[in-house]
Amino acid sequence: MVDRNVSLKQMNTFGIDAQAKLFARIHDVSHLESVLEQHSEESIFILGGGSNILFTNNFEGLILKNEIKGFKIIEETDDFAIVESGAGENWHEFVMKCIEQNLGGIENLSLIPGNVGASPMQNIGAYGVEIKDVFEYLDAFHLKEKEMHRFHADECKFGYRESIFKNSLKGQYFICKVAFRLSKKHVLNTSYGAIEKELQEMQISEPTIKDVSNAVIKIRQSKLPDPNEIGNAGSFFKNPVVPIDILSNIQKKYPDVPHYPAPNDKVKLAAGWLIEKAGWKGRTFENRYGVHKHQALVLVNYNQSKGEEILQLSNQIIRDVEDKFNITLKREVNIL
Ligand code: FAD
Ligand code: EPU
Repeated sequence: MVDRNVSLKQMNTFGIDAQAKLFARIHDVSHLESVLEQHSEESIFILGGGSNILFTNNFEGLILKNEIKGFKIIEETDDFAIVESGAGENWHEFVMKCIEQNLGGIENLSLIPGNVGASPMQNIGAYGVEIKDVFEYLDAFHLKEKEMHRFHADECKFGYRESIFKNSLKGQYFICKVAFRLSKKHVLNTSYGAIEKELQEMQISEPTIKDVSNAVIKIRQSKLPDPNEIGNAGSFFKNPVVPIDILSNIQKKYPDVPHYPAPNDKVKLAAGWLIEKAGWKGRTFENRYGVHKHQALVLVNYNQSKGEEILQLSNQIIRDVEDKFNITLKREVNIL
């Protein structure tokens, strides 16, 4: 069934009050095919959990909300299992289900909002792990050619918060299921300082994957605003990867600027730190929107703000950081 003039307010974590001219919940591929056939002229947008989107307008086309479910172990040895998940499954619930079955590799990605189907879009990552580390393949339906295609990791062109689906194949494929290779003999990744510290506080010396997941959940709850309480889409910008001389310049004034190694002799800087040092952290505009007071990388909608206002705020921040540090921040959030 296709509905008309549907409010998207409850379907995006920013809580922006936008409308879709046409809207359908997709449960399987044959349903997708019949909806596409009936509405072949419409522009299309695929929606997952709405946690990485800023609506700046009503959408004058057809929104397909991916609700394809399923969880299946399709191959298993003593060492690993390959697990297929429907794209419409909630990511965190999927992580919890894997941990319950003692399948490891994604425990550091606990509590990331959104759906499994969107996880390859920007190669979601947190606390030293990205989904490219465990990705096996995905099946996606080409919206124009009406054909299913299987993508393996090398075809997805994964990078830091990037994939081919966010770039040259943007908007072309409806991801239906994603498969991950998860371990039974776990190699924990606790290299991120905050995880080590949290485990110590929890007095755990030999952590399980469940312990690491619990530590990550605690850290995230203390750092990031809960979208159920304050509208947001996580990090609004990507952390910039810059040549080393840009870092050297900043170090003249700020010797303790946080920085991390990146490929090709570059360094990754913390956009949150740059935005904070530029004076934006905690600023609120018209009592409705602003920059979060604990995490400057997160733009927030406190109360009924418009997507366009948040977009303009992001433009001001980009210009100011450019003026102050000669670095152009790139948005992580998808603007619609
Ligand atoms: P949506 O926002 O619905 O869509 C995102 C994009 O993917 C859109 O372009 C959409 O068209 C496309 N898309 C969605 N589903 C499909 C599909 N089935 N087929 C084709 N295209 C599709 N991200 C991180 O990487 N790391 C973090 O630590 C992190 N923390 C966050 C914390 C908070 C509080 C919030 C609100 C967000 C955070 N995010 C983080 C961002 C977000 O959770 C991820 O990007 C997530 O994968 C988005 O999933 P979604 O289902 O909500 O996608
Ligand atoms: N920092 C500041 N001020 C701030 C925020 C951060 O100085 O307001 C400094 C911190 O003190 C730290 C550094 O910046 O030295 C990095 O901060 P943090 O560890 O909180 O990570 P982040 O760079 O802000 C990134 C990801 C998050 C991910 C965490 C944990 C990006 C764009 N963001 O945040 O992902 O959860 O690391 O791995 O890479 C997302 O993509 O939506 C997201 C939340």
